[in-house]
Amino acid sequence: MILITGASGKTGSEVARQLAAAEVPFSAMVRSREKGEPFEAMGADVVIGDMSDEDFLQRALAGIEKAVLIMPNGEQQQAMEMRFTDLAVEAGVQHLVYLSSIESVPENLNPITQMHVAVEKHIRQSGINWTIIRPSFFMQMFLGAAKGIRERGELVFPAGNGTVATTDLRDVGEVIRLVLTEPGHENQSYDLTGPELLTLDECAERISRVIGREVRYVDQPMAEFADRLRSINMSDWRTQAVCKEFEAISRGIIDHTTDTVSELLGRPPISLEQCIEDHLELFQS
Ligand SMILES: NC(=O)c1ccc[n+]([C@@H]2O[C@H](COP(=O)([O-])OP(=O)(O)OC[C@H]3O[C@@H](n4cnc5c(N)ncnc54)[C@H](OP(=O)(O)O)[C@@H]3O)[C@@H](O)[C@H]2O)c1
Repeated sequence: MILITGASGKTGSEVARQLAAAEVPFSAMVRSREKGEPFEAMGADVVIGDMSDEDFLQRALAGIEKAVLIMPNGEQQQAMEMRFTDLAVEAGVQHLVYLSSIESVPENLNPITQMHVAVEKHIRQSGINWTIIRPSFFMQMFLGAAKGIRERGELVFPAGNGTVATTDLRDVGEVIRLVLTEPGHENQSYDLTGPELLTLDECAERISRVIGREVRYVDQPMAEFADRLRSINMSDWRTQAVCKEFEAISRGIIDHTTDTVSELLGRPPISLEQCIEDHLELFQS
């Protein structure tokens, strides 16, 4: 049996959708009965509990063959992910698939990326078979910006002239499904990107073309962006970390694409245009 943590989140729900479509049995870890309902409807098992509860994790990991470790960014993420890894080893899990990020390199001194670097090292040294999935920023960040595009024709982020090759979450989900269902991906690290490295100006142009209306990129001052994140109740730790991620983009720290999605899936990664086209209703007033 496969266990997916963070199943109700962006990546977890996509992995679940892909496994269900391929009729692969899995168990979804969620924090409430209500959040488990979509997975029950898919025919999956549901385990309800918190990643900070060690007794719960021991029960959830009993009989699990493969686990997908996904957690949102936060101050406790590193400790919880390392503990989960140790408990997975103790429970005899044979393969751990970990969601990290492409910008997690030792020279990127950001709390999120430093945390991923430390957890990746812990997993590699744990003795378990691992696969580390390292996507670039999710393309779905542009879907989150749909309201500003719809209402004001503005794409607002503090990325300066930096470039990013965003990855569609559906590609991430499909790669994880493949890693879980085919042999040969053990002890591999996969850096995933979309097809093109684009500035946010260029992203705005692409979005304009697809939705048929002008979209202008606004390079938001970092302090305003931080206020925007706090206004949606993001913690101070995470707000600062996300701001540092955008500073890293504007400094060009993630300045390459990879062929990993094409090599693994045998087709090109989903383009920004395709992603917008597939969610066109979000951009229509
Ligand atoms: N965003 C990006 O562009 C990007 C790009 C590359 C890599 N990443 C990496 O992706 C990871 C986050 O993945 P995501 O965006 O798919 O996550 P997400 O959408 O934020 O979802 C996280 C899930 O974890 C659950 N959760 C939170 N705290 C928990 C706890 N204490 N115990 C049990 N479950 C808990 C949440 O449950 P509830 O629904 O109950 O809150 C939610 O379902 C991060 O490590 C990040 O660095 C992100």
